[in-house]
Amino acid sequence: LSQDDLPQILLEWYDVHAREMPWRVGPAARKAGQRSDPYAVWMSEIMLQQTTVATVRDYFTRFMARWPRVQDLAAAEDADVMGEWAGLGYYARARNLLKCARTVVDEHGGSFPADYDALIKLPGIGPYTAAAVASIAFDLRHTVLDGNVERVIARLYNIHTPLPAAKPELMARADALTPDLRPGDYAQAVMDLGATICSPRSPACGICPWRDPCAARAAGTAPDLPKKTPK
Ligand code: ADE
Repeated sequence: LSQDDLPQILLEWYDVHAREMPWRVGPAARKAGQRSDPYAVWMSEIMLQQTTVATVRDYFTRFMARWPRVQDLAAAEDADVMGEWAGLGYYARARNLLKCARTVVDEHGGSFPADYDALIKLPGIGPYTAAAVASIAFDLRHTVLDGNVERVIARLYNIHTPLPAAKPELMARADALTPDLRPGDYAQAVMDLGATICSPRSPACGICPWRDPCAARAAGTAPDLPKKTPK
């Protein structure tokens, strides 16, 4: 088994086991090459930053029903958006959401730019969100590194360096694995793997598509990784 085989193995798993989410296109449409609306990807990624998928679902659906396009959100009253956001917390995210929507309309003609360097300049968009939108919405080869991905990569390579010191090494390893083909599906596949099988306390290694190449599984250390520097 070569390192080059790993992305394809995970994509085949994703084709069968991708979690259904309101901002994702279904399996048939995905096979036909259809991508998610960049506005929907951006909205979901901002909401998911400090909030669980389970909570985000209904908020996302309400936002998209009320403001279906970025132009609609840009034209919204601040108070209406803040009211719809109530309960999600971290209200700076909602203020940046509006700022970003207005910048996309005023400076990008109402379309999110298909370019990491342009995305990261937008209000509220950092390295994580820029990589997520670039890969998931535009299928550009960028690597997303969130908590789920850090755990998967730390285990795959049995990395014992504690977080946050391990971040550069985890990013380098994650980046080296990211394929040129279907990088957006691949990004979501790693996140889904981390959220389901490669869970923090009791990973289901027996059914993991990466069980054979996983160094932590071989060493018996998967449940102990990633290490964290005590606060
Ligand atoms: N967590 C954050 N973004 C996600 C996505 N696009 N898919 C699955 N989990 C996520």
